[in-house]
Amino acid sequence: MTTSEGMVDLTDAELVRDPFTAYSRIRERAALAKAVVPGIEPMWLVTRYDDVKLVMSDPRFVSSAAAVPGAVDLREQLWRATGIPEEHFVYLKAGVSEVDGAEHARLRGLVTRAFTVRRVTELRPRIAELTERLLDELPGRAEDGVVDLLRHFAYPLPIAVICELVGIPEKDRPQWRDWSAALAAGFGPGVAEALAGMVDHVRVLLEFRRHHPADDLITGLVRAQAEDGDRLSDVEMIALVQNLVVAGHETTAHLLANGTAALLTHPDQLALLRADPALLPKAVHELMRWCGPGLGTRMRYAAEDVEIGGELVRRGEAVMPVLAGANYDPREFATPERLDITRDPGRAETHVGFGAGPHYCLGAALARQEAEIAFGALFRRYPGLALAVEPEELRHGPNPGTWQLDALPVRW
Ligand code: HEM
Repeated sequence: MTTSEGMVDLTDAELVRDPFTAYSRIRERAALAKAVVPGIEPMWLVTRYDDVKLVMSDPRFVSSAAAVPGAVDLREQLWRATGIPEEHFVYLKAGVSEVDGAEHARLRGLVTRAFTVRRVTELRPRIAELTERLLDELPGRAEDGVVDLLRHFAYPLPIAVICELVGIPEKDRPQWRDWSAALAAGFGPGVAEALAGMVDHVRVLLEFRRHHPADDLITGLVRAQAEDGDRLSDVEMIALVQNLVVAGHETTAHLLANGTAALLTHPDQLALLRADPALLPKAVHELMRWCGPGLGTRMRYAAEDVEIGGELVRRGEAVMPVLAGANYDPREFATPERLDITRDPGRAETHVGFGAGPHYCLGAALARQEAEIAFGALFRRYPGLALAVEPEELRHGPNPGTWQLDALPVRW
């Protein structure tokens, strides 16, 4: 797991296979660890709960390398190493996650209204309807009585929801699904093609909504631009839409699949949930903690020297908060390796699976609600649902940033 220089190799097979155990080991060795990814300079990892929250929340850490004179932009190095053409950097850099302070508040403010708890609650009936429709179709998708729940339920539900909200027409959704999959796979010409395809398509949609407004987020952005003079640029609008669609379904799909697999392999917890569906919100918090898809966040840069665990992170150095380390930290969670859907956090959300601080996940309320509806309906509609393979045969994808299954074969 470590290189000859004692650094953590983030692409190491053992770490990718069982990140929760690997990061726990790293966390108990020291507060800070140096890590490498091929093609970019080393960065720090923080894995302890308090340190992870600190790096995500403390203004001494920023998202944009450009905000710290002399800092090397590791994100840009990563894009280059991934083969993303230089002309796309402008869109990636305009993303809401990449900027800080007033710029960040301005961009985030444009879309926050679409994701408030109240607005998300209004979507509940529509999400339930989409869920029931997909569940109706499941038996028809089966081959020899086995269906891949990731492909036929966990993916299509969140992409349908976010595309409706944003305003991507139904006929174009399979294309967006393919583009997002290419981005998530993370390497090669497919990534460049996907980015180019998304940018061109959002441009067309924005132009269309300028003349044919509807009740969707793209129309909201067009209106904001008209009211706001020149402040909101086309590049920013394209970056926002692309960000939302990709962030809005890829992770949610893996929460649905990981969570279903976790409940099917912990029948005592599933029985508790079946006996008392009011446990659903707590169960979703616990599944986010125990098998949440986001293993780490984007790296942050120290805007000044900061001491963490007795060691110094120097100004300009990059730090990645490891959510999977924090969510299994025994300093915060009793017996963290135990899945316990009755775990009472005391507060609404103690895990850091949706991040923390100013970049806290914009879609957290939406993702939680989709998961509550999806788990509730799935286990009610298919009481005999079971894995169609042995648990140890479930394969996790090779993405070091996301805890994701390749497939989730089930039978009922
Ligand atoms: C289970 C599902 C999800 C997980 C695990 C997740 C996780 C995260 C995490 C960890 C962050 C913080 C990243 C950082 O600090 O660098 C984040 C930010 C973000 N998420 Fe999510 N997310 C999920 C669903 C969604 C959905 C449904 C949307 C759609 C609206 C969304 C949109 C965003 C956006 C736009 C940001 C950037 C916010 C900012 O920088 O201010 N996410 N998400």
